[in-house]
Amino acid sequence: MIMKKKIDISANINGIKLASCIMNASGVLCTTEVDLNKLIVSSSGAVVTKSCTLKPRKGNLEPRYFEWNMGSINSMGLPNLGIDFYLDFLEKKNHQKPFFLSISGLTIEENYILLHKANLSSHISAVELNLSCPNIIGKDQVLGYDFNNISKILENIFKFYKKPLGIKLPPYFENKHIQKMAFILNKYPISFVTCINSLPNGLFIDINKETVVIQPKMGFGGIGGKTIKPFALANIRQFYTYLRKEIPIIGCGGICSGEDIFEHILCGASAVQIGTQFIKEGVSIFDRLRKELVHLLQKKKYTSINRFIGKLNVF
Ligand code: DHB
Repeated sequence: MIMKKKIDISANINGIKLASCIMNASGVLCTTEVDLNKLIVSSSGAVVTKSCTLKPRKGNLEPRYFEWNMGSINSMGLPNLGIDFYLDFLEKKNHQKPFFLSISGLTIEENYILLHKANLSSHISAVELNLSCPNIIGKDQVLGYDFNNISKILENIFKFYKKPLGIKLPPYFENKHIQKMAFILNKYPISFVTCINSLPNGLFIDINKETVVIQPKMGFGGIGGKTIKPFALANIRQFYTYLRKEIPIIGCGGICSGEDIFEHILCGASAVQIGTQFIKEGVSIFDRLRKELVHLLQKKKYTSINRFIGKLNVF
């Protein structure tokens, strides 16, 4: 009998230990108690919550999500049960999985209040501060594009916030923007960076009906899924180049297979998140992807993902 060596796909995100490097992306099937319980018992390496606000929100009018074979478009408008629900849920739940509380205040001040609340919880592993929500009607600014304000915001946050903080970023399309953002982030004790969020301001069209496919914002919304993988890989690669080595990257964008995960890790991701494809498949996806990744590593004779994080070759 051939003994197969155990393949290690665990991740260590600045001391937060994940049995598997594969988890859900914030926003996907992680809003309600039912969703979160399913994630807890699934083989995802961690649970990330829907980005929350201070007060519960119903979100934008439906239809607000649409998917096709190559991707998805959404303009959800932050439907969530409010931060107290997520903190109470955790308080009551006795489980071992790392738990990332995603927050996305409607204003900077709201983000500070949310972080004050999170600071008091002993149950969250980290906050993932979402600087990239593109879908709030009347608020078009994606904070992650507001380079002038980020430094001040982070400076204020680290005056009082003492728990691990990750930053979820929008995609950037110029190398100099990534350099600039990495330069800012490098000055703060950030625990991780998650990139990328959906590509903002996309449009998908139903050619038969000659209409848009989602109702809010005249049909414009954030694009996710297969289509955005090259942009995710480019952002991961460039952030891996410019961020301090102590800031791990969680890759997100266009993952549908174990091979896609391999590519994210090769570019520099230490762990990955699944969005659109998780909506399509449900929680069984974490098992499938884990198996596909392990199978690929066996074939390539890697015993651990740590052997090839960021080791992409160039000509
Ligand atoms: C929503 C969408 C996002 O891309 C995000 O980062 C946060 C919230 C939403 O529309 O709910």
